[in-house]
Amino acid sequence: MAVAEKVFSESGYHDLRGHIAALEREGLIHRIDRPVNKDTEMHPLVRWQYRGGIPDAQRKAFLFTNPVDSQGKRYDSPVLIGGFAGSRRIYSIGMQCPESEIGARWERALRSPLRPVAWEGPAPVHEVVITQDELEASGGLLKFPQPISTPGYDNAPYLSSAHYITKDPETGVQNAGNYRGMFKGAAKVAVQFSPHGADGAVHWEKYKRRGEHCPVAIVVGGPPVLAYTAVQRIPIELDEMAVAGALVGAPLRLVRCKTVDLEVPADAECVIEGYIRTDYLEPEGPFGESHGYVHQRTISPVVEITAITHRTNPIWTSFISQVTPSESSTIKIVSYEPMFLSFLRNDCGVKSVVRVSMHEPLTNIRPVVFLQFRNPTEGEVWRALKLASGFKIGVGKLIVAIDEDIEPTNLDAVMWALAYRMTPHEDVQIVRGYDKGHAPPFREVAAMENSVMLINATLRDKLPPISLPKREFMERALELWNELGLPPVTPQSPWHGYSLGDWDDELDQEAQLAAQSRWIENAIKAAKNRVSADTKFAKGDL
Ligand SMILES: Cc1cc2nc3c(=O)[nH]c(=O)nc-3n(C[C@H](O)[C@H](O)[C@H](O)COP(=O)(O)O)c2cc1C
Repeated sequence: MAVAEKVFSESGYHDLRGHIAALEREGLIHRIDRPVNKDTEMHPLVRWQYRGGIPDAQRKAFLFTNPVDSQGKRYDSPVLIGGFAGSRRIYSIGMQCPESEIGARWERALRSPLRPVAWEGPAPVHEVVITQDELEASGGLLKFPQPISTPGYDNAPYLSSAHYITKDPETGVQNAGNYRGMFKGAAKVAVQFSPHGADGAVHWEKYKRRGEHCPVAIVVGGPPVLAYTAVQRIPIELDEMAVAGALVGAPLRLVRCKTVDLEVPADAECVIEGYIRTDYLEPEGPFGESHGYVHQRTISPVVEITAITHRTNPIWTSFISQVTPSESSTIKIVSYEPMFLSFLRNDCGVKSVVRVSMHEPLTNIRPVVFLQFRNPTEGEVWRALKLASGFKIGVGKLIVAIDEDIEPTNLDAVMWALAYRMTPHEDVQIVRGYDKGHAPPFREVAAMENSVMLINATLRDKLPPISLPKREFMERALELWNELGLPPVTPQSPWHGYSLGDWDDELDQEAQLAAQSRWIENAIKAAKNRVSADTKFAKGDL
């Protein structure tokens, strides 16, 4: 049996430990046993994986078994960074399916969520219970080696892979949202809700109106599938835990928390229980963000911790986010792209769209989007461009329609399409009236309007062939290249000529004659078709 099949054929879902074992079997973890400073060295070290030219296929997770801090403090828990989505392969192992199935799994899970079940017997996450009166003496939150994400700019360690579980006080439906959490003490941590509609904030507002504090359970090191749902904008009526179970076809197993009326995965590494205060806010931030800039200070709610429960020898986790590509762009793009394509093709019926590609490096997947088409009509292109700009908040500052022969991950190819297949005054539309997403410029959010530029860079007219030798000549030449022992090449698209419609049999025959070294026959034919020097040429003939 192939290694990949072994990884995906196990039944049930993986908790974090099962997932780490699967990654280890696949050789996808760098294990670092020497002491590494969590506040100054850990994230910068992993950052080199993303700023050091290592391609996605070679990226791995990092497990630091000996974290220390700048005060010489040692920590018992190891830290896993990049373990959920350090690369597309790591994400697919967490989803327990090949990458090609991820989109279909998401669609199915959103249509048919799988209700979680109760854990039977003592829950692993309750192996150690630190009650409220023990928090200060035990170290509480400070027992855990949360690394600083952007040393030199962040003002504290922030929870980064923390799923805040809250419950709608009216419907009883739980929500899991991945929000950053500034460390504020042994028994206190912040939560930062985006002003663009975090579901946890909707719950918090409801408790605030009722004059109550908002119960919360913060899961760190839950099953990977929960992480994949906690970072997705899922309708508030749907419980992320049910969607997570449906993603892997096995219900999550939950246990009731010790001090709040919420349910959490019983096999999570750690759960921080408490109440998000609704009577005061505190300064929070700055914090390096996924849009690639340090996000300035906010005034945000605070969680007062009522208990911390964890497994024996818990494994701590941290997402590497900030400048993209990163774990936080990978964790979204892998599911966004296929769902985006399905939205355009299946929900909106634009069948000529064949691929959606979100630009990841530095831009962070949402602002720049490419739609690839096969034989579209002009109307289909514009309809798809406009629909794409409404897919999710913040999607599309620049959306470009391209043909199937233009590889969207190669910006040179996209520029080539822009240079020759579009005419700015005819093929560009700027549409106003969009919300401003989570990104600079940081002016007063409510006052800001956003707009989107839509560009049709698909071929409308026939063009002569690409001016490269036909495929058969390039293939033969590559054999020759290799026989000669010349340096290895990586073919870059386009690497051979192909027709774009404006080519006929006569021209093709002439080229064939030339390739047979019979070009003189073409010259003789041309001489027979001689015309007077006074002949007026049609516009465009020269
Ligand atoms: C590493 C990381 C950190 C995030 N931090 C925040 C945050 O601090 N606040 C926020 O509102 N969203 C944050 N997000 C985005 C949310 O996870 C995402 O919008 C998700 O849909 C929120 O869940 P909700 O829709 O249930 O509110 C973060 C995402 C990632 C991957």
